[in-house]
Parts: sequence; structure tokens; C-alpha cells
Amino acid sequence: MNHRFSNTRKTRPNFTKYGAISCYHTEIMCGIFAYIGKPKSIKLALGWLQTLEYRGYDSCGVCFKTKKGLKIIKTVGGVDNLTKQLRTLNGVVSNRIIAHTRWATHGKVSTLNAHPHTSCNNEVAVVHNGIIENFNKIKSKLRNHKFTSQTDTELIAHLVEDEIKKNKSAKDIIKYLYNLIEGSYAIVIFLDSRDEIILLRKDCPLVVGLNNSEIYICSDSQAISNFVNRIIYLHNNTGAIIKENQIRFVNSLGLPVSVQEEAVQKHVENSGNKKYKHHMLHEIFEQENLIYTAINHRLKDLKNDGIIDFSRCSHDALSNVKRIVIFGCGTTYHACLYGSYLMRELLGIHTEAWIASELRYSKYIHSPNTLYIGISQSGETLDTLQIVWSLKERGEKVLGITNSPSSQLAKESDYVILMKAGREIGVAATKTYTAQLLELMFFTMMLAQKQKINTKFYIRPLEKLPAAVSNILKRHDEIRDLAEKFYRHKNYMFIGRKFNVPTAYEGALKLKEITYLHAEGYAGGEMKHGPIALVDKELITFAVAPEDPIFSKIESNISEIKSRGGKIICITTSKQLNTDEMFLIPTNHEFFYPLLCIIPLHLFAYHVADLLGREIDKPRNLAKSVTVE
Ligand code: AGP
Repeated sequence: MNHRFSNTRKTRPNFTKYGAISCYHTEIMCGIFAYIGKPKSIKLALGWLQTLEYRGYDSCGVCFKTKKGLKIIKTVGGVDNLTKQLRTLNGVVSNRIIAHTRWATHGKVSTLNAHPHTSCNNEVAVVHNGIIENFNKIKSKLRNHKFTSQTDTELIAHLVEDEIKKNKSAKDIIKYLYNLIEGSYAIVIFLDSRDEIILLRKDCPLVVGLNNSEIYICSDSQAISNFVNRIIYLHNNTGAIIKENQIRFVNSLGLPVSVQEEAVQKHVENSGNKKYKHHMLHEIFEQENLIYTAINHRLKDLKNDGIIDFSRCSHDALSNVKRIVIFGCGTTYHACLYGSYLMRELLGIHTEAWIASELRYSKYIHSPNTLYIGISQSGETLDTLQIVWSLKERGEKVLGITNSPSSQLAKESDYVILMKAGREIGVAATKTYTAQLLELMFFTMMLAQKQKINTKFYIRPLEKLPAAVSNILKRHDEIRDLAEKFYRHKNYMFIGRKFNVPTAYEGALKLKEITYLHAEGYAGGEMKHGPIALVDKELITFAVAPEDPIFSKIESNISEIKSRGGKIICITTSKQLNTDEMFLIPTNHEFFYPLLCIIPLHLFAYHVADLLGREIDKPRNLAKSVTVE
């Protein structure tokens, strides 16, 4: 990981001085993969590395042991580029492989800055996630070494080279590095001359997977779960030494420690995506089954007068909630916002939705019986996790909603709701967004049941949702037609009211994220307070306008735009609406329209991106899991 040398921010600024809700600073994007065992094809290993591209895909590299020493291949761009470079090495195998995929935070994207990094004698290779905060200080003392990159990571290779020359053992090297390096890190070091691999971990995830005599090391347990039997989640300040396919664990002083092996939860891969041009399209279509399954599962309790069951969520602790604070980032924040509208409306409980990175710097105000809900599909978003850690330090209770059972959010929250959306590969969140909406809907129903609010009324509209989703997906050619008509336009506005303000925000985010076109999401009532100045015949406005109790309000917003020459596309239930274009959705209850209305908007973004030839599953500058501040 690169580090802007002038920027040496402290990992933990003073809590009370800021009075803010959280204070850690780590930079842990990038993916690490390593393999030790019987000879494996390098190409196969790169396939595994590719599953980590959600953590970044601007450059990558691999290092493997050969009879002539370490071979290192690096490139700018994703793993596909690396595989192309490896064509000449077809059929090459190795029993020691370390690989890395990077998302640049400091320093430019370049082949030289890609990992692995090596020592001057090329005998030590290192991959690293995180940041070495005292990089400058240490580097200034290493005058006898030639640095070839701008990264802080390279420093480790040079330091270890010196220690090997002094004949230091692996456990002494671990002790030395833990003592010397300040910051946060997950590090894998390969010592070629000794055929030894060393691991260190502080504040960045690193797991070890075991399968008979094979050892896998990874920054994400899900990526290796299908080919290992047992997993060890390294604790902070734990190191490991791997020699002759044997692994020993030590603490930061180099002393032996015991670790806990966990049985692996096999991860069900997406199937059938070959039918679709992109993962994103496949994931949009997967919603048909996912929504059907999720609703049927949850509705059982609601119908049988039982309290909806959230297995890892203690009901007792949730019975006296007086205030709810929901936080998340990006698309997930839009789900939080939806949750806040719904909880206020149905429960009458004071509920706030926060962008996690904003909540972090806002003043923490304690009020008794507050339930904090952190939402993150990946469960690894740093802005969100930082709030969770901070709240836990303050003794607050946190409910985590995530799609990843092995994530930090799942492990560190007091209560957990697991969305069962399956792995989402496309960087743009689609099925995980609707899964979040569903979990929030049912969680709110459960709180309502606790308050003796009658929820029976919602059974029928909920039952109608799966068929409505199928209906929308079956007509997806209509959306393709709209995209073909409008994709040359450069500016888009999305408006909605109340429950569909988050839908408008999300429609705009998705369009800009994968098409790189300018799009804004607004509450319809805000148009006349400024944005209406943008309206001309070039501006395309999507109005999210189902016939809900405030339908007449969005109708007025639509007229105001139309009378100024703006082009309007409506997502609506009303055939009578005065609009240029419309996409009809089936009728339902106002609470649940956001789930239906977002699907045509996600499809529109997809088709425009496709028509513009964008890299839909890996949009520029983004990563699936944002593990930096
Ligand atoms: C969605 O399309 C985005 N890629 C992004 O906004 C995402 O929702 C956000 O980074 C939060 O991710 P999380 O749910 O994994 O925390």
C-alpha cells in the first residue's frame, strides 16, 4: 500500500478532544492471497486473486518460487492483465505463491508501486495491506538500500533483508517488526533463502486457511472458504511462521500462542451468470428468487402471529427502544434513510439516518435506550466499522446488518441480521440494496409486533411483492428502449418524495457510478428551491411517482418541470400521469414501493452504461469494499 510521505496521521486521535463518535484511522484496501503446499498452477492462483478484486483493481502482482529464485510479475490494471502477461508461463506451477491486488490511496498507480516488493538481493518478497506511519523515520536509517518504489511496503523487505544477514530467526524478525512498525497492517513476507513465510497482523484482516497439507493466506475468509476445511482468524499482534508446510503462531514478542481454528462455512457461488453479459445484470435478475425466498421465510412468522425471528438478534434487548440511529455509506446509506422513514412512520420512534463518515465526526450524544444499527453489505466498510468500534467502547449496543457472516461487522456487533443475498460481484450494489430494504422492513415489523402494533395489514402487500418484481424484470426490454432513447444525454435528475427520496438518491448514484454521467437525486419538494434552474430540454428527470398518499405532491413537481421544457420519465402506477415516458409498476403499499421502484432505475443505469461501453462490473476508481477512511 502506498503512503503519501508527507501525511503521517495518527491512528488514534484524541477521543475526548474531538468529542466525536469515532477516531481510528487505518488504510486497508487491497487484497492479499498466498499459497503454500504442493505445486499449484500460477494461473489457478491468479483466479483466486481475482476474487479479491472487490478490494481494488488498479494494479496487481504475483511472486512465486522457481528453481532460479523468486519470479515476480506485476502490472497496472486488473488480474486479467496479469494473466495475459503469464501466457508465456503456461503450465508453470509453484509450491509458494504470494499475490496482491491494489487500490491506490497514496501515490500513483504504477507497475513499480504494485506489490509484491522485494529486497535489494531479491530474496525477500512482501505484500502488505495497511499503512506504515513511521515510514519516513525508518527509511532515513536505511541508507544502504536502494528503493525502487514510492511505497511504504518496500521498507519491510529491506528491513528483513538486514535481519537475515544478522542470522535472526523468524520469531525474532516478527518481534523486531512489531516493535518497530507503527500503523496498521496485514503483511506476508517470503524469505526465499530459508523457504520460510512470515505473517503479521495489526488492525487489518488476515486469515489462514488449512486443507490437509495446504496452507492458504488471505485478507478475506470468503475468498478461500471453498477449498479449505478450517480457518484461523489471526488476532491483532499475532504472527505466524510457515516452514515445510507447518505453521507456528507467535505473539508480538515472538512467544508461542495458541489460536482458534474454526470450521469453514462453505460459500455458495453465484451460478448461472454465464447467461448474462455482466455480473450486475445477473445480480439484478437474481432478485426475483431472492425476494421471493426472503419474503416467504419472514412472512411465515407474521402470518402465524409469531414474532418475526431474527436468529442472532436478542428480542429482549430490543423491547424498550426509544431512539434509533442507523448508519452506512453510499447505496447502503440510502437503505438506512429508507429505514428511518419507515421506522418513524410505523413505530413512531425517533429515528435518524446518518452517512457513516459524517456521524463519525459529529458529536456523540448519549440517550438511554438508543439502538444503533450499522449496515454494510460487505461488513468491512471502514467508516461504518469505526462507528461500531467507538460505540462499543462507549458501552452502546449495536445491531449489524450485513451480507457477510465472517465480516468484522458481523463479528463485532452485539446483534446481527444476515442478509442472504449471496455474494455480489458487480461493484454496483443492486440485489444487496433490495436485501437491505427487506431486512429493514421485517425488522421494523418485528419492533412493531413488540409494541403491539397491528402488522397483519401489511401481509397482503408483502405477499404481492415477488410477483411484482417478476413483472418488472419480465418487461426489462422497455427499460432497454428508454436507455437507447436517452443514453446520449449528459445530465440527469432523479426526484421522489418521502419513502422514495432514498430511491431518487440511489437512482442517481447508480447512474453516475457506472456510466460516469452527471446525475443528481433530490427530494421533489426541493426542486423549486434551486435545482429547477437546471431544467432545460437536455435535462432528463426521472420522477419516482407511485400512487401513494402524497402522489399529488410529486405530480405537481412533475408539472413544474414539464412546463419548463424538461423531459420526464416516470416510474409510476398511474397510466394517467402527464409525462413524456413512463414505466409502470404494479400497485402496492406506500411502505414497499421503494423496493419495486429501484429495479427499473438500476436497470436503466445498467443499460446506459452498456450502450456507452463502460466497464460495468468494475467502474473506474471504485472498489467493492471501501476499507479506507
Ligand atoms: C454501491 O453501488 C456502491 N458501490 C457503494 O456506494 C456501497 O454501497 C458503499 O461503499 C457501502 O458499502 P457496504 O454496504 O459494503 O458498506
